[in-house]
Amino acid sequence: MIGNPLVEAAYLVAAICFILSLMWMSHPSTSRRGVFVGEFGMLLAIVGTLLLKEVVDYKLIAAALLLGSAIGVPLAYMMPMTAIPQRTAISHSLGALAVALIGVVEMTKLAAAGAALSFASAALGFEMLLGFLTCTASVLAFAKLQELVPTRPMIFKGQQALNLVVFLAAVSCAVVLALHPQSGPLLIAFVALSALFGLMLVAPIGGADMPTVIALLNSYAGLAASAMGFALSNKLLIITGALDGASGFILAVIMCKAMNRSFANVMFGGFGQVVEGAGAGGEARPVRSASQEDAALMLENAASVVIVPGYGMAVAQAQHKVSELYQTLQNKGVDVRFAIHPVAGRMPGHMNVLLAEANIPYERLIEMDEINGDLPTTDVALIIGANDVVNPAARDDPKSAIAGMPIIEADRAKAVMVIKRSMKPGFAGIENDLYYLDKTHMLFGDAKDFVAGMVKELAGGSGMH
Ligand code: TAP
Repeated sequence: MIGNPLVEAAYLVAAICFILSLMWMSHPSTSRRGVFVGEFGMLLAIVGTLLLKEVVDYKLIAAALLLGSAIGVPLAYMMPMTAIPQRTAISHSLGALAVALIGVVEMTKLAAAGAALSFASAALGFEMLLGFLTCTASVLAFAKLQELVPTRPMIFKGQQALNLVVFLAAVSCAVVLALHPQSGPLLIAFVALSALFGLMLVAPIGGADMPTVIALLNSYAGLAASAMGFALSNKLLIITGALDGASGFILAVIMCKAMNRSFANVMFGGFGQVVEGAGAGGEARPVRSASQEDAALMLENAASVVIVPGYGMAVAQAQHKVSELYQTLQNKGVDVRFAIHPVAGRMPGHMNVLLAEANIPYERLIEMDEINGDLPTTDVALIIGANDVVNPAARDDPKSAIAGMPIIEADRAKAVMVIKRSMKPGFAGIENDLYYLDKTHMLFGDAKDFVAGMVKELAGGSGMH
């Protein structure tokens, strides 16, 4: 299909760029270079594709380019860092939809030509199944991440059996379509079943497992694109799809390990999940709260403080005030360190990026496993906008929706302080018993304002050290 040597050369260099890009992006010191090389590779891939003789109308392509850029460029500029997962989810859904729709067109062409079983028809069946399921699964993941629908797992009786039936029905359609390409009711049923299975796959997965799901959907979108490359005999699509599929898969496995999740569970839509009975909005229980003045005094009198940052710190953009708090306490002789959970916030490395931006020394950022050993001897654990990542239910309650997920064991510190605006649950949508402990003080308010208030108190206070 590809005969033009210019196109071949562009594709070859693009493929090399993508491989280098992945290699460089895997380390913070080379990641910027990785992004630029990846972008350059994509430019070459697009230019190469535009040179293909199969292109019939450049006007339509130009119109699509303008429309896409008009949506994509402002989206990229205006999107806050906290919304990166949902932006990624929506990109996956559009990419997968494009792949799946091309599959429908190709299948219709094969049907019109009266084609029989071929490698292309089999690849198209696989590609459409993954494409449509990834599309709808990503849309639901987007809705959960954007909190347009409840983030708690949606579970009902007989769900696993129903999931299996829908999946097997979709696979059977794909097999028949591969054997006898056709464009009638069977194709429509196949599209509907694949799309339905995507929704059913993500519905039972709770908010806390969304990072792993996004990595997995990334992998599916890549595999679908790779299968389309086989169907269209396009080498670059085969390579990029395989790279995307493999890297997404490896990331999903790494995330599962970090979150202590079974890979099969996430892959097959939360099979075997148990949901906690008590959730948001249960009976009101008393909590202890403290003012900025009290909190500042407690921090000043501590010898060691571990700060646990979370999504709320990112939303409030409190990192610079947190840096001031760190400096002030260090100057007063308090040992301050930061506990970093692998999925705190909304993207991998989220807390590291924010704290580095606020010039907090990297050696003060301690990974979860290491800091957990020190928490029982820590005077104060100060939680700033974190919730799920410090929820003891993950460790203590096997029925919890987040059971087994590793946590920062802030509840083991001698005293706990929590800055958040209300008693609302975190992303997983479940209550946090940490807030009701005798040693916990709730510091109600916006993270940035509350920390600023404490810094002010500390600057004006006498200081005990
Ligand atoms: P969450 O469990 O989402 O809790 C954040 C808390 O911050 C909320 O309880 C909220 O309480 C508080 N908050 C929000 N805005 C605030 C503000 N302006 N000032 C003060 N507090 C504020 O956060 P987490 O502990 O960081 O856990 C992250 C969760 O997201 C996990 O479930 C994780 O699996 C999931 N997730 C992570 C990623 C990655 S890769 N990091 C991606 C997607 C999802 P109030 O509303 O009461 O203030």
